Amino acid sequence: MTALLATRMAKADAMAAADAARVLAAGGLVAFPTETVYGLGADATNGPAVARLYEAKGRPAFNPLIAHVADIADAERLARFDADAARLAKAFWPGPLTLVLPKAAGCPVAELATAGLDTIAVRVPAHKVARDILVAFGKPVVAPSANRSGHVSPTRAEHVEADLGGGIDLIIDGGATPVGVESTIIACLGEPVMLRPGGLPRAAIERALGRSLGHSLGRSLADPAAAGDTDGPIAPGMLATHYAPRTRLRLNALRVAAGEALLAFGPVPAEGAERAACALNLSARGDLVEAAANLFAHLRALDAAGAGAIAAMPIPREGLGEAINDRLERAAAR
Ligand code: TXA
Ligand code: MG
Repeated sequence: MTALLATRMAKADAMAAADAARVLAAGGLVAFPTETVYGLGADATNGPAVARLYEAKGRPAFNPLIAHVADIADAERLARFDADAARLAKAFWPGPLTLVLPKAAGCPVAELATAGLDTIAVRVPAHKVARDILVAFGKPVVAPSANRSGHVSPTRAEHVEADLGGGIDLIIDGGATPVGVESTIIACLGEPVMLRPGGLPRAAIERALGRSLGHSLGRSLADPAAAGDTDGPIAPGMLATHYAPRTRLRLNALRVAAGEALLAFGPVPAEGAERAACALNLSARGDLVEAAANLFAHLRALDAAGAGAIAAMPIPREGLGEAINDRLERAAAR
């Protein structure tokens, strides 16, 4: 984009949904809160609008987008649901679950949004602001996380402004997003497979399916060469370095070295915590739900502190801990 846009920031009041829908209908870009992270929305059926969205994010055009819709009936116009997909949609929508499914015949979503794949990622978000916008707009909205490509996802309107201000039309400020990590992505193209751990824990999905899920392929994509070896579906965005603060991140740290900032978890302080250049606790009471909600805001704040490195304490892997560890490992892989 050559010209700098005046990015408008609006409170999520009674007028916000109609305002957002007007901007989307004109081919504009609107950032809005979902229960997971802020999304950057464009009219999914408008190719040029989708192209502007890729450009504003600095996102490689081969990385496909999630189409957001208001309900299951709208999702069925975009994608074909097998029995497992239908069961998951019924159990968890609206909510922090994305399904990758075969595209339906006549799917109106622009080819660019699905990067030429014959599958499509679909989600029905639960956040009231997102739902009101989808209902007011009445068409699918593609919305990647509203950060510059490669940055940490935004969980507050100010994060969006810092990354994308001047490059998008409107930011709807609905406060901090409650879940704090992105949606869990499940491909239902045969036996269900988890492509990305996220805001909906694996155990809940396995309970609804009545069996265990195929292994996450995100791990194998840590080595892009290995990605070619998998014959299952992959989430092209799940590259190892996707979630990257500028400051080096040291994982599973039990003590803090001189000049390091500290990303703490739980009530027991890390050894040497008092000498940390800057310290933030994801959850002093050791609650993984609270930790997920704080994760990206704390990473951004510690990154801005200018320390030599960020030491991150170990986080248990159960529940939302799977997604938190996944994002931390990606942030450290650079
Ligand atoms: O919580 C979320 O999912 C947020 C909010 C805004 O809804 N959105 C989000 O979008 O995280 P994004 O674009 O940052 O991540 C979407 C991921 C990418 O890794 C992309 O490669 C993958 O979904 N994806 C999209 N379409 C796909 C497809 N057809 N097959 C496999 N992976 C796909
Ligand atoms: Mg993203």
